[in-house]
Amino acid sequence: METTTQQAPQAIIRGVDIHKRYVMGRDNFVDALQGASLEVQPGEMIGVMGPSGSGKSTLLHILGCLDSLNAGEVWLDGVRVDKLSRRELAALRRNEVGFIFQTFNLVSSFTALENVMLAAEYAGKGRAKRAIRPRMLSPWSGCPIERDIAPTSYPAVSNNGSP
Ligand SMILES: Nc1ncnc2c1ncn2[C@@H]1O[C@H](COP(=O)(O)OP(=O)(O)OP(=O)(O)O)[C@@H](O)[C@H]1O
Ligand SMILES: [Mg+2]
Repeated sequence: METTTQQAPQAIIRGVDIHKRYVMGRDNFVDALQGASLEVQPGEMIGVMGPSGSGKSTLLHILGCLDSLNAGEVWLDGVRVDKLSRRELAALRRNEVGFIFQTFNLVSSFTALENVMLAAEYAGKGRAKRAIRPRMLSPWSGCPIERDIAPTSYPAVSNNGSP
């Protein structure tokens, strides 16, 4: 009999028993996450649902390497990232992670195009790539980003959701 061994695909995101405590003072703290775990497979699309204050944004910030955790593990594409240095985390955020923020965090004195190009600039992309990339994004985002517009003119299309 022929047997085949199928390996499960490696999770693109894996959070294991994540704990997060926000400390505001000596006896003033919030345990926002108390053992959150999840696995996301490549190509999978998930939604995180829960009541206000249940820790959704906290979880997304930790998985996206924007915030630290008190205990647990975070793995991205097979690499454990919760122990990386600040410099390594900055490179990871710049090259591997994309966020659409609820408060969209654009630089208001820049046009929409300049805002998109800024990230490419930090990533060290050449002029041509910087010019092409935002045009590739525009049909996806629905934002006429190639026009020289101020981001504040388009709050409805720029504000796509949490975190
Ligand atoms: N920077 C912070 N300092 C102190 N407490 C915080 C901080 N951020 C979040 N919290 C607290 O942690 C808990 C989880 O908050 P979080 O923002 O992750 O919830 P959420 O599920 O995203 O809520 P919402 O649906 O309202 O966005 C809440 O009690 C919140 O008040
Ligand atoms: Mg939130």
